Amino acid sequence: MKNMLIAGNWKMNTNVFESQKLVEYILGFVKTNATLKSKVLVCPPFTSVYAIGQMIENTKLLLGAQNCYYEEKGAFTGEISIPMLEYCGVSHIIIGHSERRSYFKEEDEIINKKLLAILEYNLTPILCIGETLDERNQGKTFDILINQLDKDLAGLTGDTIERVVIAYEPVWAIGTGISATREQVQKAHDFLRHFLVGKFGEKANRVYLLYGGSLSEKNADEILSIENVNGGLIGGASLKGDSFCSIIQTAEKYII
Ligand code: 13P
Repeated sequence: MKNMLIAGNWKMNTNVFESQKLVEYILGFVKTNATLKSKVLVCPPFTSVYAIGQMIENTKLLLGAQNCYYEEKGAFTGEISIPMLEYCGVSHIIIGHSERRSYFKEEDEIINKKLLAILEYNLTPILCIGETLDERNQGKTFDILINQLDKDLAGLTGDTIERVVIAYEPVWAIGTGISATREQVQKAHDFLRHFLVGKFGEKANRVYLLYGGSLSEKNADEILSIENVNGGLIGGASLKGDSFCSIIQTAEKYII
């Protein structure tokens, strides 16, 4: 069995008007290709989440957020809670992105709290993990991945693991135009599957393992065809409707 989730992480791009234009394009594609089996998700900035939620209601397009706070409400200036996002139609929330880990000093303990809170609200966390170039060059890639998974997934059981999406995003491949090679992605994803099944049991075979890092319409075929790759978390190329939809089309070829 191979499922696919193609997710666009728009990061801090697009105002409300631009978001709506982009979603119009993607929705057009999704509606025209009514037999699509891949899940398709867009994660616009917070300011566009409500408007996009209105547009995609009762369609197959899914809506995600790029971050959240784990408390339900209260005096947390500048934060957004999970129920607030859910009200707007959000089903998936990205956590642990390397940009949040490095620029905003988000640590594993906070990421774990967010992950558990998202599951409590019955939404889907997309947990991002990945090594820096230094760590890879020092041969520490798998140690880093294990360390992140152990800490970020603390408290999960063999029953809850399948509700989590994991995105392997090597930090050095993000926004650089230099994707990991097919061999590097295959090794990392085989390792992740093996590790998760060893730790959580059989249900971990159903966890979506996404690849992220300079994924585009040009290398989508090479990467999405890998056995343990269940889709992509796409930055730059998800801001162009035609590139994003071309990646969706490629994903369709590899759904079994
Ligand atoms: P790019 O596709 O722009 O490299 O970004 C990847 C990413 O960070 C997705 O979360």
